[in-house]
Amino acid sequence: MKIIRVSNYEDMSKQAGKLMVEKIRSNPSMVLGLATGSTPIGVYQYLIKDHKDNSTSYKNIKTINLDEYIGLPFGDSNSYHDFMKNNLFNHLDIQHENTYIPNGNAKDLDIECARYETLIQEIGGIDLQILGIGENGHIGFNEPGTAFDSRTHIVNLAENTRVANSRFFQSIADVPTHAITMGIASILDSREIFLLASGVKKAQAIACLMTGKWSEDFPASALMHHKNVTIIADEDALTVFD
Ligand code: F6R
Repeated sequence: MKIIRVSNYEDMSKQAGKLMVEKIRSNPSMVLGLATGSTPIGVYQYLIKDHKDNSTSYKNIKTINLDEYIGLPFGDSNSYHDFMKNNLFNHLDIQHENTYIPNGNAKDLDIECARYETLIQEIGGIDLQILGIGENGHIGFNEPGTAFDSRTHIVNLAENTRVANSRFFQSIADVPTHAITMGIASILDSREIFLLASGVKKAQAIACLMTGKWSEDFPASALMHHKNVTIIADEDALTVFD
């Protein structure tokens, strides 16, 4: 795993954004795997500004997101569909039919998981997957204990994940209890992965990823055996590792 050490959140967003733009420009029909949450927002702002200033085009780019809550009504501002539209898609020249997010309201969620897994293959696999990391080491919504050979599946969200995400909702009771997520094996199939981390809250997880053992108890450790992972982390996220 390669590490790019940056000073703070702004710097992390700029470094990751710059690398992404270079890749998009050299492969304008690439498939990007995208994440939600607080971590990638600055990177998305960088991509939007670059699109405006330098006309980097997303006309032929496809995106596929890691996860979506189950049961949030269509158009709910906390759904990852809305998050992606507001924070990225509506500000680029991307074709909305080329953006894919699991349907957390599908009638048959098992069929939806299988459909999504097939879709990843059909669009040619993921060229570059962007990941954040949970304080408990989750990637996507793959909580501790998830099998490393898992494919897109339904998860019971860990209580600490619901608490962490409750900052976006009115109360913890409003945070969904379940989600659909790409599995660990689906993520590991990506040809390249950027894992972004900012802030002291992520320091323990980053230290564990860099020095810990390969274990399903710590989902991010699955990345240790991937050939092309870059961690872009700021000083605060690297404090325990130092
Ligand atoms: C979101 C996702 C999650 C987040 C993680 C960190 O699509 O896959 O794994 O990346 O929960 O969230 P933030 O960035 O809000 O700290």
